[in-house]
Amino acid sequence: MAKMTVHDVGFKGKRALLRADFNVPQDAKGNVADDTRIKAVLPTIKHLIDNAARVVIASHLGRPKGKDEKLKMDPVAKRLSELVGKPVAKLNDSIGPDVEKAVSRMKDGEIVMLENLRFYPAEEANEEDFAKKLAFLGDIYVNDAFACSHRAHASIVGVRKYLKAVAGLLMKREIETLSKLLEDPAKPYVAVLGGAKVSDKIGVIENLIDKVTCILIGGGMAYTFLKAQGKGIGNSKLEKEKVDFAGSMLAKAKEKGVEVLLPVDHLIADKLDAKSLIKLESGNIADGWMGVDIGPKTIAAFTAKLRDAKTVIWNGPLGVFEIPKFAEGSRAVAEAMASLKNANTVVGGGDTAAAVEKFGLAQKMSNVSTGGGATLEFLEGKELPGIAALGNR
Ligand code: 3PG
Repeated sequence: MAKMTVHDVGFKGKRALLRADFNVPQDAKGNVADDTRIKAVLPTIKHLIDNAARVVIASHLGRPKGKDEKLKMDPVAKRLSELVGKPVAKLNDSIGPDVEKAVSRMKDGEIVMLENLRFYPAEEANEEDFAKKLAFLGDIYVNDAFACSHRAHASIVGVRKYLKAVAGLLMKREIETLSKLLEDPAKPYVAVLGGAKVSDKIGVIENLIDKVTCILIGGGMAYTFLKAQGKGIGNSKLEKEKVDFAGSMLAKAKEKGVEVLLPVDHLIADKLDAKSLIKLESGNIADGWMGVDIGPKTIAAFTAKLRDAKTVIWNGPLGVFEIPKFAEGSRAVAEAMASLKNANTVVGGGDTAAAVEKFGLAQKMSNVSTGGGATLEFLEGKELPGIAALGNR
């Protein structure tokens, strides 16, 4: 990798200012409801501790407008401490004399966690003074917050002016596996795209169309494509203003010799809940019914395309997988990807990552990205500010 990583610097006795993305879901009591993003940073934390660093962790949580008692980092620090098997001292602020004093008393191998960075609007505004005060807390800046690297915030880019910036091990893994999808990917290369909205995926489709062998489209976004082909979609999800884009994208793919598979049959329901009436439909979907998952013929066609793939990116569920009876399409694709040997299999973050976790197949993928928006922007071919800010080797 062209960027410097934690392997390129010594940490003994040094303060490592570690930016993590611990923006995790919380339950009604405020406890961490999904610790995937915390677990993903453990290899970096372990590396820093094993190399006698003093680890100062900085993260945001949610989108507070100023200080918000419900978005304090305490539950995250508690969960991290359980996972790492060491105390994690949670501080009550993220900058200032009290924080500086606490950090100055740290011993090698100890961990502290700062308060939610976004309690200061200066974080998102990337104000120089805030970045400088944060940078006071470290000797080396380690960025393991891939999921935030599309944000040009003080803790992502601003601190770089004052400290050497290296990638953590999660950042390294994300950059390496996602780069392989864009730079000289092994073929056949299959992109599986789903999720509710075509509009979220336009940039990704435009960037991948020159690289992939085949695109499989399912989920809510498929109905806008089917509409563009003049099919009846009943009450299925439709983005009217994207029908033209869908039609021109299908024409462009044909021109370039990229195969695009759309659903040929559907699981349809009369409403979106577990108690709905459901049936299979291989033709036009009638009014009063909506597509909620791909049907068995589509599953067979999609999984056949995945069988010889050497590169697969999957972003967006193929049905309303949160309701178990609408999860079969997503499960079948996840299983087909998990069974591939010697292929780069990458699952985009957000809902798709949640689906793969739910099926217990996350460990079988080359990478389940922790990013949502960041992963999409990376796949769009954009340079992410947080990655650009890392030092080169
Ligand atoms: C995410 O969850 O995608 C990141 O933590 C970024 O959060 P944001 O969209 O609130 O900037």
